[in-house]
Formats: sequence, structure tokens, C-alpha cells
Amino acid sequence: MNVAVVGIGRIGLPVATKIASNGHRVFGCDINTELVGKVNRGENPLPDEAGLGELLKQVVAGGNFQATTDTIAAVAECETVLFAVAVDVDESGRADLRNLFSAAEDVARGMKPGTLCIFDTTLPIGTTRRELAPRLESNGMKLGRDFSVAFSPERLLMGRVIEDLTKYPKVVGGVDPAGGDRAAAFYREVFGGQVLQLANAETAELSKLAEGAYRDLNIALANELAQVADVHGVDISEVLQAANSQPYSHLHVPGTGVGGHCIPVYPRFLMQGEGPSSLSARGRQVNDEMPAYAVHRVEELLGGLADKKVLILGLTFRPNVAVTPHTNAVDLLREFSARGARVWGHDPLLSEAGTRELGFDPAPEPLAGYDVAVVHAYHRQYAALDWANVARLIVDARNALDRREVESRGARYLGIGRPATPA
Ligand SMILES: NC(=O)c1ccc[n+]([C@@H]2O[C@H](COP(=O)([O-])OP(=O)(O)OC[C@H]3O[C@@H](n4cnc5c(N)ncnc54)[C@H](O)[C@@H]3O)[C@@H](O)[C@H]2O)c1
Repeated sequence: MNVAVVGIGRIGLPVATKIASNGHRVFGCDINTELVGKVNRGENPLPDEAGLGELLKQVVAGGNFQATTDTIAAVAECETVLFAVAVDVDESGRADLRNLFSAAEDVARGMKPGTLCIFDTTLPIGTTRRELAPRLESNGMKLGRDFSVAFSPERLLMGRVIEDLTKYPKVVGGVDPAGGDRAAAFYREVFGGQVLQLANAETAELSKLAEGAYRDLNIALANELAQVADVHGVDISEVLQAANSQPYSHLHVPGTGVGGHCIPVYPRFLMQGEGPSSLSARGRQVNDEMPAYAVHRVEELLGGLADKKVLILGLTFRPNVAVTPHTNAVDLLREFSARGARVWGHDPLLSEAGTRELGFDPAPEPLAGYDVAVVHAYHRQYAALDWANVARLIVDARNALDRREVESRGARYLGIGRPATPA
């Protein structure tokens, strides 16, 4: 089978590579010429993506996978087209669909009768049917008669995309009746994993938003409970361990907000739909307020932050992946700076330019002599740090550290919803 994957970024590239490795001929289409050149040389642009490097080299060398900037020519050769172009929110908090529209218009210019188009990018409900399918009809072809459309969300964790592709069922929902059936058959063939076919594209779109909203709200609840724990001087980690020891409670871990271009973004897609969304909005608000809350706690503990030297460790949105959209490290920088602290940033996964792009002064090596170090993304490179050398107070922004280990080294510890080590 010939398949085009439009958008070969964090998600599209591993998906395309995996399909090619199962014996299909795959075209990876992207507007980024540098990325296309790199992929065609067999070079892996995502070194933090487990298993991708070797697989990519094999499929490029074997001739099964080719990257191109010519989407129109590529889709003319293919029976199936997957869209993995990113959709984020604009300044007003609404989905910014411009890149996806432009990709759909390119595909419409190239596709031949009989093509199946599958949208993988998470979308506001109704977008596939109302906004995208009509753009595919723009060259005179008719949905249902000449081509089919389905929505099938990617349910993957960056860093282990290849493993996750067959770990959970692939959810699909058609826009036209044949779209759902054909998408289900396609995924059974290319991945061989379980497929969950839903009634239509809207059901599949809402199922993906439901997953994201659940996690955002669950974290918001954990964050609210952490603030209650602080009021009463109890340790939220003990509370969560006890509450989650029965099968009906699955409370997540509190922290300084939620980053990345998935969890904090998808509740906003619900908030721009036609249904009720006050709970999603409230969850967003609680999580967005956490950086200010955490920094205020540090300020109270130290009796002020003016001229304090603060180091933020791990600037990406989560550990061990070099991805920065919506990272809360930037919010921590803003909150500490607003209180007069001097702030430096460090991240072994980012270049010095990448660190500066986020607004940070890169911390000089060795990492030592700070008043406060906030462990924002606990990358594996930080496991060997001698905490007492780094700073007098270690703030565990995601409750990821072993507090006894930090204290045994002679540093003070403060977690989110966890009492500070006495001075
Ligand atoms: N990253 C995740 O963890 C994750 C998890 C689940 C679902 N998703 C979904 O996958 C989508 C894609 O995410 P990503 O992380 O791969 O994004 P990304 O930014 O890494 O990749 C998107 C790619 O699309 C390309 N592109 C933009 N406009 C284009 C066009 N008109 N034609 C062709 N290519 C174009 C970009 O150059 C880029 O390489 C997200 O919007 C999200 O809905 C992501």
C-alpha cells in the first residue's frame, strides 16, 4: 500500500516510519525543507524518541520511506493520506487551524479518486466534517462518492511513540460511512493492533478531548488538594498514596501547572464548542495559577526573594524530551523575576540559544551556589547532582524527587503540597 503522512514532526515521523517498517511505501510530506533533507539522509531529527533512529535508517536505506516537500505529487501516488500537522491555540485561546487547512488544500490538489484521508491531529468537535472535508472537495471531488474521510486521534506519549502505537486501541470515526470502515481496516493492516471503531468522526473527536480534559481536571484537583494540604501542614504524597490505595481513586500528582501542546490545549477546544465547559475552564485556571502559588510559597518560606539567586533545572515541559511549547518553566521565570529574584535556567536537552529563546540566562557550570533550585523537569542527567552544592533550598516542582535523598545531602526540600524541611 502507498501511504502519505502529511506533517512529519514529533508524531508524524515515528508514525510514518513504523508504517514503512511494516512493508508499505510511505511518503513523508512536510513544508520544512531542512527536516525533509535530514530525513532523506537517514538522519534522526528526534534523538529522544526511543527506537526511531535505527528504524528510520532501515526504511530510508530500503527505499520504503521518502520525505518530500511536494505534497501534491506525493498524494497522487497514494491510496491513503494521514494528516499529522500540529494545531495549537491562538492568542484568543481558539484553535489555530491555518496549517492544517493549507495541508488539506494541497492534498485536494493532488489526490486521485478512491483516496482515504485520515485526520490524526486533535481537533475541536465537528472540525473534520465541517471544516476539513469541504476543503478536500475543493477540486471538484465529492466526499463519499470520490473519496472518504475519518478522524483517528493519536494517543501517544512523546519519547515512546513507536511502542505506544500498538499499546492502546486505535480509535477511529468516519465522516462518511465508508470512511470509518476503511480507516479501521487501514490501521488493522498497517499496525496490527486493536482498533476501536466509533459511530462517527465527532464521537472520536470528543473521545480524544475527553482524555485530555480528564487529565487536566484530575491534575487541577490534585493541585487544589495540595493547597489544602499546605494549609494543614500535611504531606499530599501520603494523602495520595492512601486515597489511591482503593480502586475508585486515581488522583494524579500536583505540580507547578501543566505544559506541552496537548493537555493544556485540549480543554480549550472544549471551551470553544457548543456544549457546557465551565469545569474545563476552572481546571485550566487552577493549573495556570500554580506557578504563582509555588513561587509565593518559596517567598514566604525565605521571607522574600529580592536578589535571591534562583536556578530553574529542566526547562522542557516534561522530563527527558526536548519539547518546550507551553512549558511552565517560563511561568516560574516570570513569577520569580516579578519578586526581585535573579534567575538562571539550565537544560541538558536544549542548546544555549534554545535556553535564551525561552527568556533564560543560561546557568554557568558547575551548578552551584544558588539560594533556590527549582527542579522543573527532572531529566535523568540530574539524578547524580549533589543537591546541597547546587542550592540551600531544592523546590520539587513535580514532586518527582526523593525528599530523604535531598535532605540526607544537607539541602532543604520543598514540594508542592509537601511541608518544607525545617530550617
Ligand atoms: N506531541 C504529542 O505528544 C502528541 C500526542 C498526541 C497527539 N498529538 C497530536 O499530533 C499533532 C501533531 O503534533 P506534533 O507534536 O507532531 O507537531 P510538530 O509541530 O512536531 O509537527 C508538525 C509538522 O507539521 C509540519 N507542517 C506544518 N504545516 C504543514 C503543511 N501545510 N504541510 C505539511 N506539513 C506541515 C511542520 O513543519 C511540522 O514538521 C498535535 O497537534 C496533536 O494533536 C501530539
